[in-house]
Amino acid sequence: MSGITHDYMEDYIRSLIPESTDKFKELEDFAKEHKVPIAQKETAKFLEFMVSMKKPLRILELGTAIGYSAILMYEASGYKASITTIERDENMIKYASENFKKYNLEDKIEIKAGDCLEVLESLEEPYDLIFMDAGKGHYNHFLPHCLRLLKEDGIIVADNVLFRGMVASNDLVKRRKITIVKRMRKYLDIVSKDENLITSVIPMGDGIAVTKRR
Ligand SMILES: C[S@@+](CC[C@H](N)C(=O)[O-])C[C@H]1O[C@@H](n2cnc3c(N)ncnc32)[C@H](O)[C@@H]1O
Repeated sequence: MSGITHDYMEDYIRSLIPESTDKFKELEDFAKEHKVPIAQKETAKFLEFMVSMKKPLRILELGTAIGYSAILMYEASGYKASITTIERDENMIKYASENFKKYNLEDKIEIKAGDCLEVLESLEEPYDLIFMDAGKGHYNHFLPHCLRLLKEDGIIVADNVLFRGMVASNDLVKRRKITIVKRMRKYLDIVSKDENLITSVIPMGDGIAVTKRR
């Protein structure tokens, strides 16, 4: 149970999503076997939908892991986007690099090795879509940079914003997660109350927040 919606709802929505094939099946199987957290099925479908609708030419991703969502976004863009993805874990960088090489995507998807905040500080060119999927406890610190790097009509998609329901209900909060929960609430508060932004919070997967400028 995700703590976000009822099991029967999740099961039903997941049952509607066709089984992945080819590279995506391989990547999902690898992630499962090695316990690497990648976008949940319904989140991946939502991301695919957003990218195919928005048709971004420049995408920034926070949190590469094995490269699953980066490859998914590249394909959903109609094989047109150039993607920059940030990752600090050396093993993940190795796996993702191997995957991008294996699928001939090395010149389409660039990994920036390092901590998101440090890499964000060094970036200057604007992006059409930013996918926040790393450092749950730091989204509110990443936000000013993401807004600086977001094109006028760009979109920020932030995953895990309800964090197993803990962000919405104190009854679910585990003591050791309290800091992350407080910071995530702050993130949602800022993007929801800023008059210059429009944000929609979707109780899907682990919770997704989509933000754009008014
Ligand atoms: C949920 S996984 C990303 C999954 C990936 N987006 C996907 O769906 O295929 C989060 C990744 O972010 C990385 N990460 C966490 N905090 C980070 C930080 N502050 N800077 C850079 N990478 C970070 C972790 O090592 C992990 O690989």
